[in-house]
Amino acid sequence: MKRILVTGAAGFIGSNFARRALRQHEDWQVCAFDALTYAGNLSNLEGLDDTGRFEFVRGDICDEGAANAVFESGLWAVVNFAAESHVDRSIHGAADFVRTNVLGTQVLLDLARRHEVPRFLQISTDEVYGSLGPEGKFTEDTPLAPNSPYSASKAGADMLARSYYETHGFPILITRCSNNYGPYQFPEKVIPLFVTNLLEGQTVPLYGDGMNIRDWIHVYDHCDALMAVLERGEPGRVYNIGGDHELTNLELTHRIIAELGKDESVIERVKDRLGHDRRYAIDGTRIKDELGWSPRIDFASGLTETVQWYRQNESWWRAIKTGEYLEYYKLQYGAA
Ligand code: NAD
Ligand code: TYD
Repeated sequence: MKRILVTGAAGFIGSNFARRALRQHEDWQVCAFDALTYAGNLSNLEGLDDTGRFEFVRGDICDEGAANAVFESGLWAVVNFAAESHVDRSIHGAADFVRTNVLGTQVLLDLARRHEVPRFLQISTDEVYGSLGPEGKFTEDTPLAPNSPYSASKAGADMLARSYYETHGFPILITRCSNNYGPYQFPEKVIPLFVTNLLEGQTVPLYGDGMNIRDWIHVYDHCDALMAVLERGEPGRVYNIGGDHELTNLELTHRIIAELGKDESVIERVKDRLGHDRRYAIDGTRIKDELGWSPRIDFASGLTETVQWYRQNESWWRAIKTGEYLEYYKLQYGAA
């Protein structure tokens, strides 16, 4: 049995990854480690206990003692998803971002090195590269130029991971992915926010001129790519992961509106985000050439299925929007 530690497993991508790992690999055990911040939700992991190869531990990656306990029984890999992940929140307060994203990554790197874990996959983001003009794409050699406290803290974590490889020869891997969408995404990110607002009969807040561009990838494709990097990637290397599907926010909004059978009147133009990156686009040549991976889910069907998922899982997102799910943790684990 290979035991892997998935930090941030109660969040959006971590929970999708944990589910996929258990389904794809019958010889893998998954230890899910998560602090259950506002973004972590145990119901994202429902059903995984039934595999008999899954364990959930509530803990903070910055707490070395708590994290050490999960390293004691031996690990084949650490996959670090745990992070503060929302740009708008980082604009209002950067402290939690620096703490979890930088300090927490350092704690995990030290523990993994001490316990001689053979693989450490640091989940990063294309946002560390900053913003593009109308032309060009991010390659793995694009200099880091983060513009938000969120992306700056993620860049800090990347630099630390890199330094552990250069200094100690510790086998880290870094992935930098574009914007994800799909099931279990917290409804503060643009797609689930807009979809659930429209399902509730509300308007959708479009920032600025709506011409900012993001490259959208389905979370299942992202998880697939992560599996390829975890199993076959070359230690010390960075791999960009993209969906090859650029859209302006206005185009994206129109697609969502069409899916929900609404019209333009639901768009509420609001003030722009501070430091709003104009465009992200990924050059995925390296992962394609070296690991044979490219995205498979086309955006039109991915979006239709995602909207369907939010329609069918109304109790999941309603509990989040009312804050009810946080009450559940207090009963289960005591207040955070
Ligand atoms: P998310 O906010 O949905 O989940 C983050 C999870 O981390 C939550 O379950 C939260 O409880 C947990 N967490 C936060 N602080 C913690 C701490 N100190 N200790 C333990 N757990 C903690 O985020 P997501 O969208 O699933 O993103 C996961 C990772 O992928 C992040 O590192 C993010 O930077 C990266 N990423 C996200 C995207 C995207 O589009 N969502 C794109 C590229 C990269
Ligand atoms: P978001 O989902 O927050 O992801 P990121 O900032 O990491 O790219 O936002 C995606 C895009 O949508 C971004 O350009 C900001 C824009 N946006 C809105 O226009 N309105 C909103 O309410 C939100 C949350 C985002």
